[in-house]
Amino acid sequence: MGGFSDTKVLQDLLLYAARAALSYWVLVTGLRYLDPNRESSKKALEQKKEIAKRLGRPLIQTNSYEDVIACDVINPDHIDVEFDSIGGLETIKQTLFELVILPLQRPDLFSHGKLLGPQKGVLLYGPPGTGKTMLAKAIAKESGAVFINVRISNLMSKWFGDAQKLVAAVFSLAHKLQPSIIFIDEVDSFLGQRRSSDHEAVLNMKTEFMALWDGFATDQSARVMVLAATNRPSELDEAILRRLPQAFEIGYPDRKERADILKVILKGEKVEDNIDFSYIAGLCKGYTGSDLFDLCKKAAYFPIREILHNEKNGEQSCVSIFFILFYFLLCLIF
Ligand SMILES: Nc1ncnc2c1ncn2[C@@H]1O[C@H](COP(=O)(O)OP(=O)(O)O)[C@@H](O)[C@H]1O
Ligand SMILES: [Mg+2]
Repeated sequence: MGGFSDTKVLQDLLLYAARAALSYWVLVTGLRYLDPNRESSKKALEQKKEIAKRLGRPLIQTNSYEDVIACDVINPDHIDVEFDSIGGLETIKQTLFELVILPLQRPDLFSHGKLLGPQKGVLLYGPPGTGKTMLAKAIAKESGAVFINVRISNLMSKWFGDAQKLVAAVFSLAHKLQPSIIFIDEVDSFLGQRRSSDHEAVLNMKTEFMALWDGFATDQSARVMVLAATNRPSELDEAILRRLPQAFEIGYPDRKERADILKVILKGEKVEDNIDFSYIAGLCKGYTGSDLFDLCKKAAYFPIREILHNEKNGEQSCVSIFFILFYFLLCLIF
């Protein structure tokens, strides 16, 4: 009799334990699924491993907000833009090398005295399509700094209350991963003039960003810089411009620069021998780098059309993808 009740108690106990374990599992799994940052955290963990591998040091400790930001961190080894893939802008490239890249690469040269502190804020401004985003990526690539591409959508799409914590995470992560570049593309839309119509959370986020920026700007040893780009510098308020003491205008390319850009875009393509780039550039007055890229894409379609045309007429095609002056002229005329 006693043996039977013992077994029953044991059975009940086991059943109870199993139920408790099941409830715990359901609760933990449920909570994990409810976590709004779950996907980003997973992605971030993989990226974190990758970054740690590149930096050759063990996994850095990060909080869940920094993990969200880590999704926007680009390893410089994965950037395919370098200074040589940017046509023209020679003076600006040289200045940026001395002012931005060198202090990130060789802090030892800049650690003496107060005159040679590293740059904390650089602004690139000018019309769209002139290569500002390209330049920013090339700077990260050339300096070997991790590139934190701050996107306002990423900061704001999460729960509103978290925006400030995410802003703080941008700076703390940049500090942990240094040398690093915090890149804010189209900074006018992120930190443009503060309007009364702005949502309170947006205003708070901007204020927080400025405060943290000031905090790290006074830290002379930190190899962290903010690089910003805008098509509309007039939309930036004084407070931002003050924090970006080095501003570079990336203007429309002149004829020689347009020829250089064409050469860079067509590098590695099959191009007619002795093609006169300067002549084509002369016909493209007012074109930006992006317009020239589009022009080359358009020109590349001519041989394809010819191949298709020949095929339709049952002719054997001997045309290959080839850039000749005539195609450029056709593009520019029609
Ligand atoms: N100086 C340049 N040299 C080579 N390509 C360029 C240059 N400027 C612009 N481009 C082309 O135009 C595209 C857009 O440039 P981007 O850097 O995004 O311009 P921005 O940020 O100034 O609007 C680039 O991906 C590139 O193909
Ligand atoms: Mg851009």
